[in-house]
Amino acid sequence: MKKNLILALCLLLAGGLSAQDLIHLSTPHTSLVLSAPEGGRLRYVYYGTKLTHTDLKALEGTSIADAYPEYGSSCPAEAALAVTQADGNMSLQLEVERVATTDSDGAQEVAIRLRDTVYPFSVAVCYRAYHDVDIIECWTELTNSGKKPVTLRQFASAYLPVRRGDVWVSHLHGSWANEANLVQEPLKPGMLVIDNKDGVRNSHTDHAEVMLSLDGRPQENAGRTIGAALCYAGNYKLRIDTHDGEYHNFFAGINEENSQYVLERNETFCTPELALTYSSEGLSGASRNFHRWARQYKLANGTKLRKILLNSWEGVYFDITEEGMDQMMQDIAGMGGELFVMDDGWFGAKYPRNKDTSSLGDWVVDTRKLPHGISGLLANAKKHGIGFGLWIEPEMTNTTSELYEKHPDWIVNAPQRDPVTGRGGTQLVLDLSNPEVQDFVFNLVDTLMSNYPGLEYLKWDANMSIPSHGSGYLPADRQSHLYIDYHRGLEQVMKRIRAKYPDLTIQACASGGGRANYGVLPWFDEFWVSDNTDALQRVYMQWGTSLFFPAVAMASHISAAPNHQTFRTIPLKYRIDVAMSGRLGMEIQPKNMTDEEKNLCRKAIGEYKQIRPVVQQGDIYRLLSPYDKLGAASLMYVSPEKDKAVFYWWKTEHFVNQHLPRVPMAGLHPDKCYRVHELNRIDNKPLDCEGKVYTGAYLMANGLELPYNHVVDYHKQNDYASRVLYLEEVER
Ligand code: DGJ
Repeated sequence: MKKNLILALCLLLAGGLSAQDLIHLSTPHTSLVLSAPEGGRLRYVYYGTKLTHTDLKALEGTSIADAYPEYGSSCPAEAALAVTQADGNMSLQLEVERVATTDSDGAQEVAIRLRDTVYPFSVAVCYRAYHDVDIIECWTELTNSGKKPVTLRQFASAYLPVRRGDVWVSHLHGSWANEANLVQEPLKPGMLVIDNKDGVRNSHTDHAEVMLSLDGRPQENAGRTIGAALCYAGNYKLRIDTHDGEYHNFFAGINEENSQYVLERNETFCTPELALTYSSEGLSGASRNFHRWARQYKLANGTKLRKILLNSWEGVYFDITEEGMDQMMQDIAGMGGELFVMDDGWFGAKYPRNKDTSSLGDWVVDTRKLPHGISGLLANAKKHGIGFGLWIEPEMTNTTSELYEKHPDWIVNAPQRDPVTGRGGTQLVLDLSNPEVQDFVFNLVDTLMSNYPGLEYLKWDANMSIPSHGSGYLPADRQSHLYIDYHRGLEQVMKRIRAKYPDLTIQACASGGGRANYGVLPWFDEFWVSDNTDALQRVYMQWGTSLFFPAVAMASHISAAPNHQTFRTIPLKYRIDVAMSGRLGMEIQPKNMTDEEKNLCRKAIGEYKQIRPVVQQGDIYRLLSPYDKLGAASLMYVSPEKDKAVFYWWKTEHFVNQHLPRVPMAGLHPDKCYRVHELNRIDNKPLDCEGKVYTGAYLMANGLELPYNHVVDYHKQNDYASRVLYLEEVER
């Protein structure tokens, strides 16, 4: 909440004052309405399409549920908030004290302050409704004004009642190399819990975002849809409780398990934001809302185009050499790439990082591998006319490292117990609740950036969970703060880094896609979707990821065949066409590629530069889901002006005499005319639609007929097919 919040009783009705105690928060197309009578209960009235004055008036005097239910006023019901007072009282009874509103930074903020009727404990239920994107963020601020500490047992960010009917939930499930699988299921009586307890990475297992389709089985471009994304990087819990009432009860917040929080006198605890959106244009509509908000307000440098890069990991793994790095830089520059990133294996003095069993924390260049150090590589990158970036894993160490020898007390581990190790049998997590560790991590980045100001990019990895709960820094009676304080520590570090280096591109990587969440994205420009770079599986993973995250944030790389994770052999054309639907990069050893393959990549990189603004800043329309198992998948991006679009089509199954659906497009202007041009063409003859002009209305009603296979020489035929079409507006 902004400091300059003007505290005043402010009853808003469609932007004006009302005799009723209704609060109307609105975005361009949505409204959220609450009732907040002074001395009464804060009640939830409405969330959905934007209300007119007439409809808003009709809602006066109605309400659905308490807007932030506390444990104590109705104990059998699920609660958003539960606390224990210093005298042992486990109940709360909250009433509205005052409402404060302010308008700043492109949004309207409202804070409804509730106070306990007996104890000096208060809750500010806060909302931020954006003026130009359809997102309302909700969070709470819990304040203990008493003399003694209060224990927070449950502290959700927000609660939302969702009208029953035929409501379906869509969420993302998966783990390493199998991230972001889309799961869609109807909500049934009972409790659905989606949670994470990793401690460090929170988008393996399940994601902290859901979509709720209110009109039955989810559709991409139709149907009322609520989207919810918890903006938190740590352990979280989403609960959907369904009893015999008319509403599903949705709660989202920090996972309180093993995280009871002791709130000191005069301390305020801020819960992370829950970003809510509503769309009547289905899942894709809700995605577009999330993406616009992310680019505009949430993601670091969200409105800037990303460079096309080569990352060294799958090309050389730990086998870093100066000549090898130079060769890769020359190769990516030769294909039109703009940046090279040196992954793991470049550091360690006493203990060289030759495999994953040592050296994390010893962030000095290994001059046995790189005699001219980072400066030498930067000079080479400059010579090749590209940028240069580095891999780091700042939150971690290994038992075999100079850092651990010096600071064995800096790790997360249960007191009195032997350290529990992770990756390589030696990895340990640094205790970010400790300010000294925070300084160490900040200084690592600061020193790199000071020594090598030419660094453009950092790949920030995190490959371990917290296996053994305990902090040598936190006092004995605050051990339960560890999970929360770890992420507060990370946030402090990232804020310092971003204040000093706002333009540095930083990728959030965490054993692949373990950190795709809006808790870290304010500090990161993008995330690595998965260590699985198999193009076919990526169709599924990137589809799921796109429900909540924009293409500009989704690192998507062309890799080798056979693929290093699935060992599947997929033709380069298909690998390119999948990678080109996100933030394009390469994850390959170019010296193993043929000239023909390099030429295809060079052409694709050139064409991606042309479509990059549409892909990275356009609106997504998902058309044919791979999860529907109809043999193909398809989506498109459309520029905000609807004058350009990129259409993707990937075959996901191959049979003879197969009958695939023809895919109607979406999101175009019906009255505009578009010329169609195929990108990355490998066929011996152009498509029938090549160069032809169609109206948006036709394309959205009919789509285009696409051959199921590529027309190529016999020896080049294979079981994959994909198409990328570029649509550009032309005068009628
Ligand atoms: C895990 C990441 O997900 C990979 O991309 C790679 O950077 C390795 N770590 C390096 O150890």
